[in-house]
Amino acid sequence: MIIAITALKGGVGKTTTAVHLAAYLQTLAPTLLIDADKNRSALVWAKEDKLPFYVASQAGSPGLIGKFTHIVIDTQARPELAELTDLAEGSDLLILPTTPNALDLDSTKKAIELLEPLKVNYRVLLTKVDSRTTNGRDARNFIQENKVPAFKADIPLLVAFQRAPSLGVTIKDYPDPRAKSGWSQYRAVGKEIIKK
Ligand SMILES: Nc1ncnc2c1ncn2[C@@H]1O[C@H](COP(=O)(O)OP(=O)(O)OP(=O)(O)O)[C@@H](O)[C@H]1O
Ligand SMILES: [Mg+2]
Repeated sequence: MIIAITALKGGVGKTTTAVHLAAYLQTLAPTLLIDADKNRSALVWAKEDKLPFYVASQAGSPGLIGKFTHIVIDTQARPELAELTDLAEGSDLLILPTTPNALDLDSTKKAIELLEPLKVNYRVLLTKVDSRTTNGRDARNFIQENKVPAFKADIPLLVAFQRAPSLGVTIKDYPDPRAKSGWSQYRAVGKEIIKK
């Protein structure tokens, strides 16, 4: 399965999502994460060789693709429409991470407007959901009212997600008991993907 992670906004959790979904999919079958972002964030995360799956740059990926069952593509923010179209056509599923904040949700609405006419398989993922505010619930209401295709599981706001990259690990291997809930939510998202 080829899964691309994209968003019109930066900083919404694309790379975090790509890394954690690749970690989940690797538990099922060989998985390759392609870092298609010029910033090479996923490659930097992987540089200590502690991630449980293979990470390649876009330039380095052609010879590898056939060797993996699942491919996860991390992309840069603010793609051009042509890039979004290419991604949609080249993948089985587009994931649009968004935080529940008004500005991020607004960008997600714009992305959906661009994607709707393309008739692609996409799903919104709520990220960085802060349980101390009602933002997550409000965003969920918006999703339901507008029948936006979205994952049932959302991703909590956790400091461990910010710290795991500096240790070169996923949140699953981050030494903090609170990190567990973050991993179990990404696992739940992975299960929703595979169920389809
Ligand atoms: N669930 C979360 N809880 C707390 N912090 C998070 C969470 N998800 C991501 N972050 C943090 O938010 C910041 C942006 O996340 P990330 O790099 O995954 O986003 P991005 O969409 O890939 O950004 P960019 O557009 O720059 O590529 C990072 O510091 C990351 O550690
Ligand atoms: Mg990124």
